[in-house]
Amino acid sequence: MGGSLGRSTVTVTGRQVSRARIAEIAAREEESYRGRTRRSAELFERAGRSLPLGVASSFQVYDPYPLFMTDARGSRIWDADGNEYIDFDMAFGVLAAGHSHPKLAAALQRRVANGTCYTFPVEDGVELAEEIKARFGADLVRFSNSGTEATMDAIRVARGYTGREKVVKMEGGYHGHHDDVLVSIQPPRDAMGPVESPRTVPASAGIPRSRLEETVIAPFNEPEMLEGILDAHRGEIAAIIVEPVQFNIGVVPPKEGYLQRLRELADQHGIVLIFDEVKTGVVLAWGGAYEHYGVQPDLFCLAKSIGGGIPIGAFGGRREVMLAIETLEGTPAFRADAAGTGIERSTIPGGATRVAHLGTFNGNPLSMAAGLVTLKEILTKDVYPRLHTLADRLTAGSQAVLDEFGLPGYAINVGPKGCVMFTPERVTNYRNFIGLDADLWAAGFFYLANRGILLPPGPDDQWTLSVQHSESEIDRHVEVFREFARELTA
Ligand SMILES: Cc1ncc(COP(=O)(O)O)c(C=O)c1O
Repeated sequence: MGGSLGRSTVTVTGRQVSRARIAEIAAREEESYRGRTRRSAELFERAGRSLPLGVASSFQVYDPYPLFMTDARGSRIWDADGNEYIDFDMAFGVLAAGHSHPKLAAALQRRVANGTCYTFPVEDGVELAEEIKARFGADLVRFSNSGTEATMDAIRVARGYTGREKVVKMEGGYHGHHDDVLVSIQPPRDAMGPVESPRTVPASAGIPRSRLEETVIAPFNEPEMLEGILDAHRGEIAAIIVEPVQFNIGVVPPKEGYLQRLRELADQHGIVLIFDEVKTGVVLAWGGAYEHYGVQPDLFCLAKSIGGGIPIGAFGGRREVMLAIETLEGTPAFRADAAGTGIERSTIPGGATRVAHLGTFNGNPLSMAAGLVTLKEILTKDVYPRLHTLADRLTAGSQAVLDEFGLPGYAINVGPKGCVMFTPERVTNYRNFIGLDADLWAAGFFYLANRGILLPPGPDDQWTLSVQHSESEIDRHVEVFREFARELTA
């Protein structure tokens, strides 16, 4: 967090914010953070003796130490020192329903008292699948336990269905922590290669070189470049996986016509188009990005918000593709081999006849109950107009502050998710995200946190509004942001 960009001033609309002033405020605010959150510091120190990096997921750690939380209700969250925050992080976008929505809490209490895991199917799972099908125009759905599992499984289905092995992923996109997609997340400038054919850069040690060869990287929002990449790999690509809005680099919407062009290119090349709707699904709209942009993928992945705060994942889509879980007969993979030999059988190594999709906790009664109440009773069709209005209010308020004080950046939201991008130019893909002013962002994060406004702890994430946020909380957020801007430019 807060790496120096090595510039001495930031100039926008004729005003200047000195690096020294940013550093001064950042240091003062970090000091104040340390003073208010001593219990978190103690817990972090203790955690470091049992957990690598002191956390359960490496995303949770940031300098100087993360807040440890104890309670949350509605739009509010409390840390281990009892400090209260209006939560705009909402668990990295999980909580469009807000914390512990009373309807969810009641449903879970009933469920907990009656068994939380059977590994036998339950009716709630059927009803939840029906609800997801209705929202996403899908034929078939399967459940998993996280977004990572959903994208991993969807990719395997696409590979089984097509009989091909390579996957196209956009530079700067995040689709979870399995080997195929844990590449080129935020690659260093000197490793990323030319924009028209980016290199596949592992985002972790431990990913075998052989895996890297299977993931082809393309720049987001550049359909002509993608065309060149697909031509260079003709007949090899099983799937294109893409977030309809790139949310791993702030908020980067698709350019006009981009998603439609992806649909056309996938069709031309016989590729399975996968929309990763882990962040967009049931948040941007009742039917996620599919409804918001009107483009239908072959497969989509869900997680986060659909469970209202309980671990869950799902993927689904077109019957013909999803049926690869039952049999490969009739799929392009099956036909490809038939053309060569006249013998109809799978081309899949080992002669597999279907795609395996497994998991002890898939469709467990607890997450099915959570999903059902979240989708059927909380994130209902009528809540979305208000969510959009609240989000537009936060964006407009933040933009007014940026304009008033001439700060280098712009406010943006797509539906209930948004952020301030501290860079004057509009970001269209990872390459122009790199110039974002991380120092300015970090100073703002601590300034706001110290005054009860909690944002996600990273310039690459964004705020998410829930059905439990209020207008006055939005206005409080803008007010504190204005104080920050005033002090910065004083
Ligand atoms: C777009 C997207 N896809 C997939 C994932 C992975 O989900 P999970 O963390 O539940 O495995 C994330 C997580 O942040 C995500 O943002």
